[in-house]
Amino acid sequence: MNQTENRKDEHVRISLEKDVAAHHNYWDDVKLIHNALPEINKDELDLSTGLFGKKMDAPLIISGMTGGYQKAKKINENLAAAAEKFQIGMGVGSQRAGLENSGLKDTYGVVKDFDIPLRFANIGASQLVLWGRDKTLANVQEMIDMIGANVFVVCLNFLQEVIQFEGEPHAKGCFDAIKELAQDLDVPLVVKESGAGISYDVASRLSKTKIAGIDVGGAGGTSFAAIEHYRAGMINDRLHERGGKTFWDWGIPTPTSILEVGDATDWKLPIIATGGIRNGLDAAKAMALGANCAGMAHTLLGPANKDKESTIFEVDAIIKELRAAMFLVGADSVSKMIDVGAELWI
Ligand SMILES: Cc1cc2nc3c(=O)[nH]c(=O)nc-3n(C[C@H](O)[C@H](O)[C@H](O)COP(=O)(O)O)c2cc1C
Repeated sequence: MNQTENRKDEHVRISLEKDVAAHHNYWDDVKLIHNALPEINKDELDLSTGLFGKKMDAPLIISGMTGGYQKAKKINENLAAAAEKFQIGMGVGSQRAGLENSGLKDTYGVVKDFDIPLRFANIGASQLVLWGRDKTLANVQEMIDMIGANVFVVCLNFLQEVIQFEGEPHAKGCFDAIKELAQDLDVPLVVKESGAGISYDVASRLSKTKIAGIDVGGAGGTSFAAIEHYRAGMINDRLHERGGKTFWDWGIPTPTSILEVGDATDWKLPIIATGGIRNGLDAAKAMALGANCAGMAHTLLGPANKDKESTIFEVDAIIKELRAAMFLVGADSVSKMIDVGAELWI
């Protein structure tokens, strides 16, 4: 394995073996208002929703996590089987390794074997700057083809870059590169944070580009500072190990980020709420705050590392919990769930 493959493997292993969650999950601070007279029947609720021109059977996305080393293929395959069964969206992790080594393309491309309504390709924003406009377009097309993507995700991960011992915290030029790519690209472009959230200011700047949506990727779930803390510890790098601990809980809470992004964009851009979603109730809370869809990573990583059955069980449970929450607030459709409102105690 080269350095990139090794890193991807370590991220997954550390996420599975250590507690890498933020110390507080902000979904616990959001309360849905119980409706004692919902006047709807639970089995008649419609969870289907449209996003980026595609129809999903539930407003859920399996967030991009992995690919780029051999064991990742099985994880993506198990996730894809669940995405197909429940007709929900799915992303893969950063596809840089697949560009650099064509022998690894199938660790991402395995998702093409499944009938998934929305597939999200993925790369870090700083790569766009390094490549320049022309090479970016060619590489982005290659990544789209690699998984048959309908949406392209540019990931912002500067918390990770600044803590990682081999990180590249070069952020200059990323905004312009995103703006150009959104202009050049035929498929919708989504900008996604990976655990530190998107503020009002960043969302206002992004809303002036042609991007199609924002994944707020807020704090409260997987902490990349925590993951890098453990990675640094593995090689006795005490400086980065310490930095990971200091910044463990850095970031804008996911519920706050949804509200900031919504206000900054006049609620016109679709919002995906990723960060700390553990179950269908958290997903319902995200929608009550105005998100169009909820994204989940860590919750599904353990089951996907096991087998298809465990992954399918987990997604089924999440959808059933979402349905139960919608019933209990009296929302018989996703659009009504988004309108229902919630109390935020942050
Ligand atoms: C092992 C692992 C690898 C990840 N790799 C990527 C990645 O390559 N690109 C990306 O956009 N997000 C990546 N993420 C971030 C997730 O997509 C998600 O935004 C984050 O984990 C928060 O969601 P969670 O709290 O449900 O885990 C990764 C997450 C995990 C756990």
